[in-house]
Amino acid sequence: MASSSVNLEDVPLMDLMMELLRRMKCSTKPDKRLILIGPPGSGKGTQSPVIKDEYCLCHLATGDMLRAAVAAKTPLGIKAKQAMDKGELVSDDLVVGIIDEALKKPSCQKGFILDGFPRTVVQAEKLDELLKSRGVKVDKVLNFAIDDSILEERITGRWMHPASGRTYHTKYAPPKVPGVDDVTGEPLIQRKDDTAAVLKSRLEAFHKQTEPVIDYYSKKSIVANLPADKPPKEVTAEIQKVLSS
Ligand code: AP5
Repeated sequence: MASSSVNLEDVPLMDLMMELLRRMKCSTKPDKRLILIGPPGSGKGTQSPVIKDEYCLCHLATGDMLRAAVAAKTPLGIKAKQAMDKGELVSDDLVVGIIDEALKKPSCQKGFILDGFPRTVVQAEKLDELLKSRGVKVDKVLNFAIDDSILEERITGRWMHPASGRTYHTKYAPPKVPGVDDVTGEPLIQRKDDTAAVLKSRLEAFHKQTEPVIDYYSKKSIVANLPADKPPKEVTAEIQKVLSS
């Protein structure tokens, strides 16, 4: 019956028990379908793991998926690379395709966090169609509201662990040992598009193409504005307030 290539007999007992406990806890949680919108560096990737664990949702970050495709030099990655390096958006069809596929994952059964998608009104309309065909809809859009002037320091100080997606910041969230991932001890890297020059194009794309998406969802009265300039723990507390109401 199992289609997975993992042989459960080889999984350590403690890991199996932990997964069982996690699933039991998750079965009591309400389903949630969330979208995180905000400019580069506004904290979407920082807050996503917290929400994911608390509500047992899958975390679908189109930027992470595209970077993985670029690193693996897949046909999708080859098509996306040029736009990403310049801080421009990749084509709507490419990203809608990867989201459509990803939503089929069993881990998305109780809902999802879309981080960095939809980024254009066309993507939002296509998402609506995808969800309608599955008989569900978006519950809440979390708008990470923040002034552009704060973002350069956040973006240029960011370091990440490519395998896990864990992010750090030289000033706001430093690793225990500079340049090294806290969990694995592996080296951290800086993203190719995390420069002040590329940030300008990314912000331009955000204001021109993504802000209209906030208006699109405001008309459906499902947008919650978050004070994303506050420290991470305070932003988390605001999110918890919004999601429990
Ligand atoms: P993507 O990877 O989605 O990048 P982004 O939207 O620019 O967002 P970031 O990952 O830069 O920021 P974040 O909000 O997650 O910030 P973080 O939490 O890490 O997209 C990259 C590219 O892929 C795009 O340019 C485009 O080419 C393409 N792409 C992706 N999706 C697409 C789509 N749908 N359509 C078309 N193209 C698409 O925080 C940043 C730093 O600040 C970290 O170091 C963190 O530690 C720190 N920090 C976080 N919160 C706080 C806080 N509250 N206080 C102080 N520091 C903080």
